[in-house]
Amino acid sequence: MALKALVVYFSPGGNTRKVAQAIAEGLAERGTEVTLRSLQEAGEEDFYQYDLVCLGAPAYNFNVPEPVLRYSKRQLARYGRQGRVRLRAPALPGKWAVVFITYGGPHTGIAEATPAGDHLAQMFRHLGFQVRGIWYTVGEFHDPESRVNLYGFLGDIRGRPNEYDLGVARTNAAGLAFVLAYEKEELEKRGS
Ligand SMILES: Cc1cc2nc3c(=O)[nH]c(=O)nc-3n(C[C@H](O)[C@H](O)[C@H](O)COP(=O)(O)O)c2cc1C
Repeated sequence: MALKALVVYFSPGGNTRKVAQAIAEGLAERGTEVTLRSLQEAGEEDFYQYDLVCLGAPAYNFNVPEPVLRYSKRQLARYGRQGRVRLRAPALPGKWAVVFITYGGPHTGIAEATPAGDHLAQMFRHLGFQVRGIWYTVGEFHDPESRVNLYGFLGDIRGRPNEYDLGVARTNAAGLAFVLAYEKEELEKRGS
């Protein structure tokens, strides 16, 4: 059976949405059945109905934005009630996750984004998902007056994510879909 993926993103300014779309395209290129949802649309979408769940957010104050924090807490509480949050977090066969973060990195570069990526990866590991990637993409600030897009730690980030950045996201997603489809087939052959 084809790989089934859910891609959820939070993106007030649109950068993370662009990356989510690129990931969805890359997954679809390799035959994945993809459901793409904003955090607002995702509602009660059940992670366990999918082989792969991708969740993306911008870094805010070097962490995830409040709505994303609330969302991750809600998932832990919801699946905890279902007995899915297990001590020692055993990985469930055939449940995979990817976290993607966009960030401007004006003060310390990617170090400003990694706490957000690690936070969401922890959520997935608590749910028994194997995290297959934490992908970081530079995203400009949406303030045209601000010098932050020119003189920050990463230099000129105007227009990011650009075509190259989105190509990287698309290619990473296509590569992952290829290998997960193979892994899923192997699991199905073994009847697990
Ligand atoms: C309120 C706010 C706080 C931010 N804080 C950080 C930060 O701590 N570190 C960082 O690297 N980028 C920070 N950024 C930049 C965003 O992470 C970046 O522009 C991102 O790509 C925006 O994504 P979006 O267009 O999907 O909303 C911040 C942006 C906003 C609006």
